[in-house]
Amino acid sequence: MTATPRSAPRAANAAAPAILATGLRKSYGDKLVLDGIDLNIAEGTVFALLGPNGAGKTTTVEILSTLIDADAGEAWVAGRHLTRASGAVRSAIGVTGQFSAVDNLLTAEENLLLMADLHHLDRREGRRRAAELLRRFDLLEVADKTAVTFSGGMRRKLDLAMTLVGDPRIIFLDEPTTGLDPRSRRTMWEIIHGLVADDGVTIFLTTQYLEEADQLADRIAVLDHGRLIAEGTADALKQRIPGGHIRVRFADAQGLEAAADVFGVAARDEESLTLQIPSDGSIPNLRAVLDTLEATAVEAESLTVHTPDLDDVFLTLTGQSRTAVVGTAVGTAASSKEHA
Ligand SMILES: Nc1ncnc2c1ncn2[C@@H]1O[C@H](COP(=O)(O)OP(=O)(O)OP(=O)(O)O)[C@@H](O)[C@H]1O
Ligand SMILES: [Mg+2]
Repeated sequence: MTATPRSAPRAANAAAPAILATGLRKSYGDKLVLDGIDLNIAEGTVFALLGPNGAGKTTTVEILSTLIDADAGEAWVAGRHLTRASGAVRSAIGVTGQFSAVDNLLTAEENLLLMADLHHLDRREGRRRAAELLRRFDLLEVADKTAVTFSGGMRRKLDLAMTLVGDPRIIFLDEPTTGLDPRSRRTMWEIIHGLVADDGVTIFLTTQYLEEADQLADRIAVLDHGRLIAEGTADALKQRIPGGHIRVRFADAQGLEAAADVFGVAARDEESLTLQIPSDGSIPNLRAVLDTLEATAVEAESLTVHTPDLDDVFLTLTGQSRTAVVGTAVGTAASSKEHA
């Protein structure tokens, strides 16, 4: 792709993507962290970057949010060139890092007012914005409490609220719910949903929770050993993995027998009177199976559809690439920053 200097390349009449990147590379010393990353993220969508520890998720966020430079490649964020117009990029984005930006010695409100100062909001506007965010994030009751007394979930909410002070169009969330209990995680998901649905922002999130990507993301990419090894909707990714099947249970052995004859490839379990028919879980496939059953005139007792979940996808994909990539160390659990 030929690069245009300031605004993002795009087809005529097409909306500029919120994030566009080509060939991003980054090494630390002789450790190759990102080995040519391409991204194209539409405005008003949620993109989830999945990857095991050390895959390069935080590094990708740091590059796209102008915190560090890539060694090679180009990117446009909010339509502006990442390095040639980095000021414009910074004013369009917000970043909630993997490690909290909350100042423990300040109250919730003071943390927000500090952000308002950093964004050069005047005092009145800053107070208005802080009050609005405290209300929105259900933090009014603890507005005057120092953050050191906060639980992990409250701190995470405050962290995200601080990111929103600048009214960003694109928000980077690096592992927004790691360490949160299921209830706080759900609250955070609702907040993220709301940001996209009500405010139309674009979210770039990293996560190790497949359920989180499944719940939130329009598109998911799997990062492993510095490369995107898969990308698509949660459903599309699940369909790439073998193992999906339809399980049909019959009333008696004759029914099972008759159906097994028709579905030649199916595995049968005589004891539970079930037949396991390979399936991609799609409606046309399900319909075909039902039609065939009807044509054979055997009555099935029950039917369940099993599609692989994202865990299967993740393990299969990262497992495959681990054997395929020779000479690259398996991601280390702790990066240097994690001690901060
Ligand atoms: N400043 C740095 N100096 C040297 N190596 C680094 C630095 N930052 C990151 N790395 C290395 O780059 C690799 C990718 O790190 P990164 O933090 O991007 O991974 P991650 O996918 O965010 O992992 P995690 O899930 O643990 O947060 C790791 O091997 C890490 O040790
Ligand atoms: Mg990280």
